[in-house]
Amino acid sequence: MDGWAGRQEILAIVATGETGGPLCCVPRGPAAFLNTTVGRCIRQSSRQKGAIMATATGIVTLFGGSGFVGRYVAQRMARAGWRVRVACRRPNEAHFVRPYGVVGQVEPILANIRDDASTRQVIQGADAVVNCVGILVESGRQRFDAIHADAAGRVADAAAMEGVRTLVHLSALGSDPDSPSLYGRTKAEGERRVLAAFPDAVILRPSIIFGPEDQFFNRFARMARFSPVLPLVGRRTRFQPVYVDDVAAAVEAVICGRRGHVSKPGPAETGDGEPQPARVYELGGPEVESFSVLMGRMLQAIRRRRLRVSLPFAVAGFGARMLDIAQLLSGGLFVNHILTEDQVRQLRRDSVVRDGALTLEHLGITPTAMDSVLDEYLYCHRPHGQFTLLTESAKNLDAER
Ligand SMILES: NC(=O)c1ccc[n+]([C@@H]2O[C@H](COP(=O)([O-])OP(=O)(O)OC[C@H]3O[C@@H](n4cnc5c(N)ncnc54)[C@H](OP(=O)(O)O)[C@@H]3O)[C@@H](O)[C@H]2O)c1
Repeated sequence: MDGWAGRQEILAIVATGETGGPLCCVPRGPAAFLNTTVGRCIRQSSRQKGAIMATATGIVTLFGGSGFVGRYVAQRMARAGWRVRVACRRPNEAHFVRPYGVVGQVEPILANIRDDASTRQVIQGADAVVNCVGILVESGRQRFDAIHADAAGRVADAAAMEGVRTLVHLSALGSDPDSPSLYGRTKAEGERRVLAAFPDAVILRPSIIFGPEDQFFNRFARMARFSPVLPLVGRRTRFQPVYVDDVAAAVEAVICGRRGHVSKPGPAETGDGEPQPARVYELGGPEVESFSVLMGRMLQAIRRRRLRVSLPFAVAGFGARMLDIAQLLSGGLFVNHILTEDQVRQLRRDSVVRDGALTLEHLGITPTAMDSVLDEYLYCHRPHGQFTLLTESAKNLDAER
């Protein structure tokens, strides 16, 4: 592996994201990795960019690394000098992750966590694994139990077998074996299986997550552009929205071992009544607001006035069931991304960090307030888009004259 040919071979292996055979040529482990050409290249480039370098870096496999949360984790891990494998089903649609690092540092790789072999393959040689795969709506073989429970257990099994040092699993607030929604019950079952297979795994349970690519504020903002009314299911249900980069920072803090702030071992019930070591963090932002108030904040950010109409749970449940049936009858041609019956059940429960839970602060992270971020990405839904501030100041000038 010495000389020009050797260096080219290493770069080719890393660039193709091969995890089988040839990757074994790259020395395993953080220290060995940092001695390779690519390691030196990453270190130099990271220094040039002024990025923070961890003292020891290695390979991290991010399942769902092309998703909303995963891409922020990928960026942070790349900036910290890690080599990042972005494992997803459509790597051809995930090329946007490549510029997060230097050439070959961040690579999309084909993997399906419903499949044993493919899951094992992308974990081989990794020092850390993060599972960011989750669904809100069932379609085809992407069922709640298959993704949230079976696949979560599969990733943990494979990580344990491959000798991975750190496993981070993204769950959700509302994960509860007694939850009225299948989403909540399968998330709880997933946590149980992860801790059973990999007792040192760290579980992060975020509330609703906001950020430029979110499907919460953006979705209602899009609706507000065309509709004079906003139908709200569970207008009094409370949320504690957490900023997407704070969630990514939590993952980074866990992987980079910055968990010195944990002073009290909070119990994490895993379903069988056995208290586990403190491994579960509940991630929420600095504000707890009702659904209706959150929609008010969104409307303010997009400078539109809309009527917020409360839809009773029974009515919403009936409508959602009709949409679910339409999905079933269409044989998968129509996927109900509007509102499912399971989501209506979810909306009956608050999504708020419990008293005494370990939180972002225990990981040394100060949660970001919504006001400092919402305007930055919701401006595109304003009547005058990015020119709104200009038109507003022009109006003010007119008024002063
Ligand atoms: N977003 C929120 O507000 C929120 C709130 C609480 C908890 N969470 C949890 O946080 C995690 C991340 O959520 P997110 O919003 O980032 O999700 P997302 O945007 O929907 O991303 C999901 C990712 O998983 C990949 N994926 C889906 N099925 C897969 C499979 N079978 N095998 C391999 N990869 C697969 C997707 O890529 P491909 O389609 O290319 O495979 C995508 O990269 C999830 O566990 C979610 O439940 C999210």
